[in-house]
Amino acid sequence: MGKDVIIACDFPSAEKTLAFLDQFEGKKPFVKIGMELFYAEGPSIVRQIKARGHRIFLDLKLHDIPTTVKKAMSVLSGLDVDICNLHAAGTAEMMRAALEGLTRADGTRPLLIAVTQLTSTSQEAMEQELLIRDPMENVVMSYALNAKNAGLDGVVCSPLEAERVHSVCGKYFLTVTPGVRFADGDKGDQKRVMTPAQAREIGSDYIVVGRPITAAADPVAAYARCCAEFID
Ligand code: C5P
Repeated sequence: MGKDVIIACDFPSAEKTLAFLDQFEGKKPFVKIGMELFYAEGPSIVRQIKARGHRIFLDLKLHDIPTTVKKAMSVLSGLDVDICNLHAAGTAEMMRAALEGLTRADGTRPLLIAVTQLTSTSQEAMEQELLIRDPMENVVMSYALNAKNAGLDGVVCSPLEAERVHSVCGKYFLTVTPGVRFADGDKGDQKRVMTPAQAREIGSDYIVVGRPITAAADPVAAYARCCAEFID
């Protein structure tokens, strides 16, 4: 899979999601399904979107004991998603178990990427609540390296971290980056943002874009603009 724009379909129901995707007619954007939609609609929403020919990043951020994660990943793999994810904080043992669970009888599997530290976690909270004293950037790079050594395919990270992740983990280790905004757009609750063109410059492999597309007056045009800046 090459560079692509993934639309974060943060909708509360299948009805709203499918109506949104209907607007794209012949195009089949890569879609991210998160916890809200998955917990509301269950696996059937994944099957419905897959049946329409979209690729799917199922963003459920698993984090549990290795056996539980392995079994859960085996179920997700059966849904034929293209990318799924977990928390690197679950340890290398958990990440290896997840890969085992994902791998199908024929040896194929979805891509598996890790969340390092959530971009919503501040340095202060990490130090005072999680008792992790290192600078955030070192923590993120260390978790990314753990993920790579466990055999994972990449990480979800801030666009600002993508360049360093590639230098630490190699250029083939995927960086999937949310926090993308158009230069003339509203930042909303995202603090540290980059434009699709900047994300391309610093080498992000996939950008995850929600509201700049889903809340646009013309979502199809906004998606096309993202693709033009990021891929073309
Ligand atoms: O609407 P917006 O473009 O901000 O959506 C970004 C998407 O990426 C949301 O689904 C959000 O949950 C997700 N995400 C994020 N930051 C992270 C991890 C995931 O914004 N660190």
